[in-house]
Amino acid sequence: MEKAVIEIAGKKYELKVITGTEGEKAIDISELRKLTGHITLDYGFMNTGVCRSAISFIDGEKGILRYRGIPIEELAEKSTFVETSYLLIHGELPGKNELENYSELLNYHSMLHEDMKHFFDGFPAASHPMNILSTMLNALSSFYPEIETNTKIENIDLAATRLISKTRTIAAFSYKKSKGHPFVYPRKDLTYCANFLNMMFSSPVATYEIDPDIVKALNLLLIIHAEHEQNCSTTAVKTIGSSGVNLYTSISAGVSALWGTLHGGANQEVIEMLEAIGKPENISKFISRAKDKNDSFRLMGFGHRVYKNYDPRARILKKTCDKILAKIKTSQPLLEIAQKLEEIALRDEYFIERKLYPNVDFYSGIIYKAIGIPVEMFTVMFAIGRMPGWIAHWKELNSDQETKILRPRQVYIGSKIRNYIPIDKR
Ligand code: ACO
Repeated sequence: MEKAVIEIAGKKYELKVITGTEGEKAIDISELRKLTGHITLDYGFMNTGVCRSAISFIDGEKGILRYRGIPIEELAEKSTFVETSYLLIHGELPGKNELENYSELLNYHSMLHEDMKHFFDGFPAASHPMNILSTMLNALSSFYPEIETNTKIENIDLAATRLISKTRTIAAFSYKKSKGHPFVYPRKDLTYCANFLNMMFSSPVATYEIDPDIVKALNLLLIIHAEHEQNCSTTAVKTIGSSGVNLYTSISAGVSALWGTLHGGANQEVIEMLEAIGKPENISKFISRAKDKNDSFRLMGFGHRVYKNYDPRARILKKTCDKILAKIKTSQPLLEIAQKLEEIALRDEYFIERKLYPNVDFYSGIIYKAIGIPVEMFTVMFAIGRMPGWIAHWKELNSDQETKILRPRQVYIGSKIRNYIPIDKR
């Protein structure tokens, strides 16, 4: 077996090397502190693997993403969000009957407890829908408290189904609330994405025509967002989940983490940035700002912790952007600015050197905008999509014998021991 050798103060220690299915290598340091008295220091966990996982595979250098072994390009072209959710959560694509049963369950669990409807009234009108979503998801554990005591797999799967289905209802209700419009209930005859669009856009005074192309685009966006291994929000779900707290509460932490502008919140920021740029002539000014170390501005939708090559999800979405905009027949000046911005940035030495490419958020906002989703809902859309990934990781964590409470260490750099000084002597 391959070994790594580390030398500390003249003494050598052997550490195991673990190899993943795609040949990636990891040095197992789980015995390091016991053997050497040292810990590792890794800001932002740039080099730290936290577990072995069988859910998704990313090769950031080659721009590869696979869910349970299946390339994202194939799922984006051939699957639906419901089918991909099943794949991520259960590990295999569903058979015909399994898919029908799963869709039926998603339909059955799509309503909210009527008491939860009153919660929406308690939020100020200007509340961000991500805040509403995370609060409401946490509240689900009070409505379905059996999750605390009955941790059998069927019960976890039931909670997972509720989450995937109800998140969509909560999201649509929070939008209706922000408009001051009556809630539109889910319908049994509609598929997952069609149901969401209907809950968002139909009203007692205006029928909403469900366009199959828009349903397809939404399926694609949710599939693209469904899973991305140990990112910030998934790590939040796992950190909280490792303490033993229930699935609903763990997922609510993931929504909070996703809200941040360096993570899922970037899709909203991209549109706001493109709007601020306003016209192609202003692009170079913004690029200069992004390169200026004294300016905190970053090019939103550019760069990724793992992809040091084109994000494969951005490539898929870029193609879809053209199709969906042609179909909707709207001119989309933001797309023109986005394409020019990308072109200029990818030729600029600063971005080339740092391997900064457009990420998934760069084009997703333009499609969401084109299909009528309001900008403040963009990160919520990401959360609806990411739900199966978070759930799959929570389940994996809870079934893994190696799981321990996630509790990193630190290098203390504060004062050495000193005495307490009474207040009158300070
Ligand atoms: N614009 C300008 N410069 C950038 C950008 C950017 N978008 N992203 C990274 N850089 C620069 C940094 O200033 C740094 O430069 P330096 O080496 O001269 O100091 C270098 O590139 C490396 O950047 P880090 O922040 O160290 O890279 P990290 O892997 O920690 O960050 C991140 C990745 C957070 C995504 C970053 O690229 C970023 O802030 N991007 C903009 C926000 C964004 O689009 N987020 C969405 C990510 S995708 C997702 O979460 C779904």
